[in-house]
Amino acid sequence: MVVDEDALLAEQKSFYRARAAEYDEWWQRRGHYDRGEQELVEWQHQVGILDAALNAFGARGNVLELAGGTGWWTQRLAETADHLTVVDSSPETLALNRERVGRPDVHYEVADLFDWHPDSPYDVVFFSFWLSHVPRARFGDFWALVRACLNPNGRVFLIDNRNDPLGGSSARDPYVVEYGTDMHLRTLGDGSRYRVVKVMYEPDELESLIATEGWSVEIESTQWFIFGSVRHA
Ligand SMILES: C[S@@+](CC[C@H](N)C(=O)[O-])C[C@H]1O[C@@H](n2cnc3c(N)ncnc32)[C@H](O)[C@@H]1O
Repeated sequence: MVVDEDALLAEQKSFYRARAAEYDEWWQRRGHYDRGEQELVEWQHQVGILDAALNAFGARGNVLELAGGTGWWTQRLAETADHLTVVDSSPETLALNRERVGRPDVHYEVADLFDWHPDSPYDVVFFSFWLSHVPRARFGDFWALVRACLNPNGRVFLIDNRNDPLGGSSARDPYVVEYGTDMHLRTLGDGSRYRVVKVMYEPDELESLIATEGWSVEIESTQWFIFGSVRHA
């Protein structure tokens, strides 16, 4: 099937605008994502591993967060960054982000990352649960954008989902009504449906793809997440 990628990416943006008020249910494992106390404790444990890795990385200096969403990671970045800029295409999610983070010194920009260029170089670029929404065909262009965002000593930290290697249920999303190749058909509480890009990289595969783009990269994983740092080779 031929996919009109521009239409798909527009649908993905619409999905996240419409989902803004429902988004946190996923991260907080509430409502349809509630799978009991034991899995919540495990989820929090794995998020703790991501948190510790980000702390060790040290997101200091002039920091840029791409696709910052409702601000779960923005609030952590704001603690260490000297200056923080957050870009996202959804004004609705950025409104929630502002509310959560409550920092007037954080700079927010509503923009489409497939059509955006930085004004100034950054020391750190961070993105969580974003790379999996970049079509494989745009992987190289995306990493060229990241390069354009960084100063010569700049570094990247990324976090994303992975398929559960143990086949557990936690990472499965009850709002996904159909799994396609690198694509999900998702629904919202009101029954509306949207296609989104979803590339579920395995840690080794992602590491080698990023290295092929000319970076020095270390990708690690937990059962449900991949994460790691990237720097100029
Ligand atoms: C899965 S969420 C991740 C949000 C946040 N980083 C987090 O960890 O919770 C993906 C985010 O990408 C944003 N987004 C979708 N398409 C975009 C685009 N073309 N340009 C910029 N942001 C986009 C959405 O609005 C949404 O906030």
